[in-house]
Amino acid sequence: MDWGLKNRISKIINPLDNRALMLAVDHGYFLGPTEKLENPQKTIKPIMRYCDSLMLTRGVQRTSVDAAYPIPIVLRVSGGSSIIGEDLSNEQIITSVKEAIRLNASALAMSIFVGSKYEHQTIVNLGRLVNEAEEYGIPVLAVTAVGKDMGKDARYLSLACRIAAEQGAHIVKTYYCENFEKVVESCPVPIIIAGGKKLPEKDALALTYNAIKDGATGVDMGRNIWQSDNPVPMIKAVRSIVHGTNSVEQAYTLYNKLCNETKNNKSKKPFQPNKNNKSKKPFQQNKNKK
Ligand code: R5P
Repeated sequence: MDWGLKNRISKIINPLDNRALMLAVDHGYFLGPTEKLENPQKTIKPIMRYCDSLMLTRGVQRTSVDAAYPIPIVLRVSGGSSIIGEDLSNEQIITSVKEAIRLNASALAMSIFVGSKYEHQTIVNLGRLVNEAEEYGIPVLAVTAVGKDMGKDARYLSLACRIAAEQGAHIVKTYYCENFEKVVESCPVPIIIAGGKKLPEKDALALTYNAIKDGATGVDMGRNIWQSDNPVPMIKAVRSIVHGTNSVEQAYTLYNKLCNETKNNKSKKPFQPNKNNKSKKPFQQNKNKK
């Protein structure tokens, strides 16, 4: 593998344990100001230090992430449709590889919509993006987007993931499902799972645990982290599974412990000098002292 490509992949998938914790904050590209991501900077800043990479669009990268902070970027380069538009699957590549290089992206991400009206267009675009990105040693992450009427079962997801890998995607992002091992088995490149809609914290931790146990390389999680009332404890708990050895129970205990610590710290009154304390005379130099 080309050195640059290998080096960039190592920013996304930690070579020490072969695991990845990606924080997804790209939802606005088709959903607009998603709940709790209305102000991306406010959402991203407190939690970004606990992930390995950030998945976002160039607009959010430029406006809401400090360029001096050394975080690897997975740049979403596909778009062109919205949640209220005619067809979500009608996506094109909307950000150039040249722009991705300017933004120092470690990987590019785009969606394919297997089985949808625009299946052909999105799969061909994936092949083209891989052609161009590989010229510069940039890996491509293919997102197997699932349309409204499509199931998220192992049969469909295996098909979509395998097609993405066959076009040359270096990493595939998909959903966790029953018999997920089958999806992993038939996909020759690493698989990362999306978190999906907000779940109770313990369920989201169980999703993470099961996906890793069944062969996922990691998670690209968004709403289940930043829509939590306690995003920092939540991302730390997810991390303790992805990069650690915690069980669901242990990760959930950690989550609760961190939530309590945060609560206790907030309830402690900050130190304030006692302005009314006049009993102590201010220090005055003894001018008569020779
Ligand atoms: C889909 O590609 C979205 O843009 C998100 O990146 C993805 O769904 C992961 O976020 P969440 O964990 O909120 O589903």
